[in-house]
Amino acid sequence: MSEIFLNGHFVAPEQAMVSVMDRGFLFGDGIYEVIPVYGDTPRREAEHLRRLENSLRGIRLQPPLTGTQWSSVFRQLLESASESADADQSIYVQVTRGAAPARDHRFPTNVEPTVLAMIKPLKPRAASVAEHGVDAVLRDDIRWGRCDIKSVALLAAVLLRQDAHESAAEEAILVRDGLALEGSTSNLFIVRDGVLMTPPTSRFLLAGVTRALTMELAQQSGIECQQCDISVDALLSADEIWVTSSTREIMPVTRLDEAAVGEGLPGPLWRRVDALHQDYKSQLRESRV
Ligand code: PDD
Repeated sequence: MSEIFLNGHFVAPEQAMVSVMDRGFLFGDGIYEVIPVYGDTPRREAEHLRRLENSLRGIRLQPPLTGTQWSSVFRQLLESASESADADQSIYVQVTRGAAPARDHRFPTNVEPTVLAMIKPLKPRAASVAEHGVDAVLRDDIRWGRCDIKSVALLAAVLLRQDAHESAAEEAILVRDGLALEGSTSNLFIVRDGVLMTPPTSRFLLAGVTRALTMELAQQSGIECQQCDISVDALLSADEIWVTSSTREIMPVTRLDEAAVGEGLPGPLWRRVDALHQDYKSQLRESRV
């Protein structure tokens, strides 16, 4: 069983305990990261660590570890996961404002943050995704106004994803003020007339690492890529819709609110960019990027 890194120590999962006074538990006062690992190479580790720092800054918490210290933690987690070495992995990192003596919304003084990192095998993509794509539903974005912070306060995302699940859909695409912004746990792309489009980063969506990689791969293969607002009308009439995340890669959405997207099958641009992404993962597994 893989060990868990908690507050400076590697411990067995059953020994990894956090106080009920922890502000992550009481207030959702913390942030997190999810980093996929191919072979034993974390994908875009520097970008994930940069975003971790942005999130910490966003909630006014000092970075508890340096980049080098995080890298060393990841390395040790990967070693402890060696029994599942054939599988790709995902590393989960969480930092909360720690356990204060009393429940009080105001920041506590002299309290150490709670620092957690753990690893688990990354679920391979089902063959049906590339064959048929996935369903999505459109929902009002009921989240807060700082979606650029990767906060552990995920109740809105939990409710939205469950709502999608109960509608037999993989993802809920979120709409605020007439604009489609992202999925409940993923970023959003559409294709129109051969051009790939994604909403620009703002306080209303997370700057996804997979989003940046997807744009890079598309541009490398000569696909024009624009960061621009996506209205609900543009979404509904898109040739292709994709959602991207560290754990779900680049997924083609082929039905939106039960209506076919384009031809109702994964589209030609998705096939091109997904093939590049699969190559990129293979290179990481061989430690070539
Ligand atoms: N979520 N937008 C939201 C709201 C997300 O929760 C995520 C990822 C993304 C994609 O970001 P990235 O490509 O860096 O994974 C966009 C993670 C995987 C999660 O909550 O488990």
